[in-house]
Amino acid sequence: MSQNDTFTASSPGKFILLGEHSVVYGKPAVALAINRRFRCSVRRNSVNTLNGMTLDTNIHPHIGYILRANKINGVAISTESGLPSSSGLGSSAALSSSLSAAIKAMKGEEGDRRVIADEAFNAEYEAQGRASPLDASCCTFGKGIAINCSESVGKEIWSVSKGDNGWRISEVAVPKMTFVVGYTGVRARTGPLVEKVRKYKEHNRFASDIVDEIGKITLDGVDAMSRGNVEELGSIMTQDHKLLSILGVSCNELNKLVNASLKYSYGAKLTGSGGGGSMIALTDEPEKVCNTIILHGGLPFIVETGVPGVTVE
Ligand code: PMV
Repeated sequence: MSQNDTFTASSPGKFILLGEHSVVYGKPAVALAINRRFRCSVRRNSVNTLNGMTLDTNIHPHIGYILRANKINGVAISTESGLPSSSGLGSSAALSSSLSAAIKAMKGEEGDRRVIADEAFNAEYEAQGRASPLDASCCTFGKGIAINCSESVGKEIWSVSKGDNGWRISEVAVPKMTFVVGYTGVRARTGPLVEKVRKYKEHNRFASDIVDEIGKITLDGVDAMSRGNVEELGSIMTQDHKLLSILGVSCNELNKLVNASLKYSYGAKLTGSGGGGSMIALTDEPEKVCNTIILHGGLPFIVETGVPGVTVE
């Protein structure tokens, strides 16, 4: 291995099927990895750079965290993303996860996925001020990830806690289903939306009840998915969208795309932190959903699920 060797890793993006925001408070959630990846290459260097420019860790706090966690100073990082940033599709977790794996390869370490997921989670936590390990786990382990669901969903892969909240992260089997993602084109940062829900929840009992309700319907959704009942799962997704709207994290652009897609879908909802970003629809008529998303000002793409997690290339 020479000093100039380049090491590359990639991680998938993800969408949250059910349970965003309430998972931050330890409630159940499910996320599925998608066939759009974030790729990170690293090479030892005299100074830290990102895509040829001096790295500013104030602008890129996730990168700053991963470099500190791996005691690395002096690396040239280059990135290539198949995911729009701030779109609710996990680009920051996929960046942290792929960077952590590439750096470990550069250090000659075997990257344990639990360590990579933990680093990616802590990078999110630090950057957002509060976070769940859902995105970090899904972008690292790939396929389907369930948090705090019953033991029967699948093998537990790791667990973590912070303050009052604990998360048990398990694999979940994902039956063949067709999803369309609709990107609103509105970039929305996760941190301020997570903070908005925290404040609402702190000052309003009603908001806490909504968070609990999202957790409950998520368990029903996981059960419907395990039985392959797409009608029931779709209707729970739509119900989740309504609850998230009441929590104040939807917006006109998202509501427009969700409403339009419902005509051709089992169900639809915003995915990720909301406030813009993306929505998803579960459908047997993906072309029709794509057309209606375009007609209503969004950018659609049909996604494949069940894809592998972080991979050193
Ligand atoms: O918008 P994204 O892809 O960063 O997803 C955020 C999901 C939240 O539940 C809102 C926050 C979290 O850390 O789980």
